[in-house]
Amino acid sequence: MQCTFAVFRFDPAADRQSRYQHYVVSAEPADKILDCLNRIRWEQDPTLAYRASCAHGICGSDAMVINGHVALACQKLVRDFKTANNFVIEPLPVFQVLRDLIVDLRPFFEKHRAVRPYLVTAGENPEKERLQNSENQQFVEPALRCILCAACTATCPITRVNPAYLGPAALLRAFRYVCDSRDTLTLERLQALDNDDGIWGCKTMWWCTEVCPKGIPVTKCLGQIKRLLKKGDAHA
Ligand code: FES
Repeated sequence: MQCTFAVFRFDPAADRQSRYQHYVVSAEPADKILDCLNRIRWEQDPTLAYRASCAHGICGSDAMVINGHVALACQKLVRDFKTANNFVIEPLPVFQVLRDLIVDLRPFFEKHRAVRPYLVTAGENPEKERLQNSENQQFVEPALRCILCAACTATCPITRVNPAYLGPAALLRAFRYVCDSRDTLTLERLQALDNDDGIWGCKTMWWCTEVCPKGIPVTKCLGQIKRLLKKGDAHA
């Protein structure tokens, strides 16, 4: 079948304004949107810029807006859309466009780094690994599935109005370490999140949960941080 793609184009080095370029692509219903973009770039227009690597929902590099919804281009199929084989492809909102569908994710990763996304422990390193009981592992497991695609943060309505807000992805990573029984920074981590640019910026809109390509209950995980703060665990 023939599909029409209207793709956002913008090269800040050459263009004064963005535009939509139209391409016609032959595709099967089971083809991924990423397959179609690849076909455009390989067969019609090598200047089209977008990120993609694994093509299997693992690396998180091809989050974009497909017919108005943020999604991974490698996870969405042509048949998933009831739009008469017409597609509009745009870059992630919130972030600055570097070129076409590629956005500047540096602010996203800066916020991720700000929550200290690594285990902090005290004392001597053990000879073997630091053990975690299975109950605690299962509790933080949803957060381990995050591939840092930025879909949740780009979709979050709070991120759109408050650029200083950490956003759901960074807060999800914070949850992962706040609730890890092996981490010794719990109190400090909670205190750092106890403000409107941190966990209280989250207004429980659930958009992050709806858009997550890995099915992570993001809002619920963020709720655990709020619960600990309300319990007073940050003020012990
Ligand atoms: S290309 Fe890796 S997640 Fe889509």
